[in-house]
Amino acid sequence: MSDKTTDLVQWIDFSPLSDERGSLVALEGNKTVPFEIKRVYYLFGTRADVSRGFHAHKALKQVAVCVSGKCKMLLDNGTERTEVWLDSPTKGLFINDMIWREMYDFSPDCVLLVLASELYDEADYIREYHDFIKRLNT
Ligand code: TYD
Repeated sequence: MSDKTTDLVQWIDFSPLSDERGSLVALEGNKTVPFEIKRVYYLFGTRADVSRGFHAHKALKQVAVCVSGKCKMLLDNGTERTEVWLDSPTKGLFINDMIWREMYDFSPDCVLLVLASELYDEADYIREYHDFIKRLNT
């Protein structure tokens, strides 16, 4: 794996608190998650033939964790693209700003939880790939 890939794919291991009753993961802003958490959203009931995402963010940082089921995520920093499986409730994927992402191959039970550093702001989205590349080169 190149250094760039290491930068592109940044996993955060969550330590589950487990006992005979089951497991619990607690996520705290500026601790487990490397930013203040301003927004939480989740995707569920996504059809298996559906792809989502297809955007980058100018400033937003996110951590994505599949709390149930699995899905694939493609990450692209403009020079390299790679695909990862999100398939564990104890593994968060840190997605920095200016990373193009696409999600697909959702299992029927997939619940993809996303923690975000900012409130929803459509102006922060880059929804055209050529605009993403253009912004990286300016
Ligand atoms: P969209 O960005 O298309 O989702 P994805 O990139 O995962 O495919 O978002 C779907 C709709 O939900 C779109 O109308 C924007 C809206 N939305 C919010 O209102 N708040 C949010 O926090 C998010 C993530 C989306």
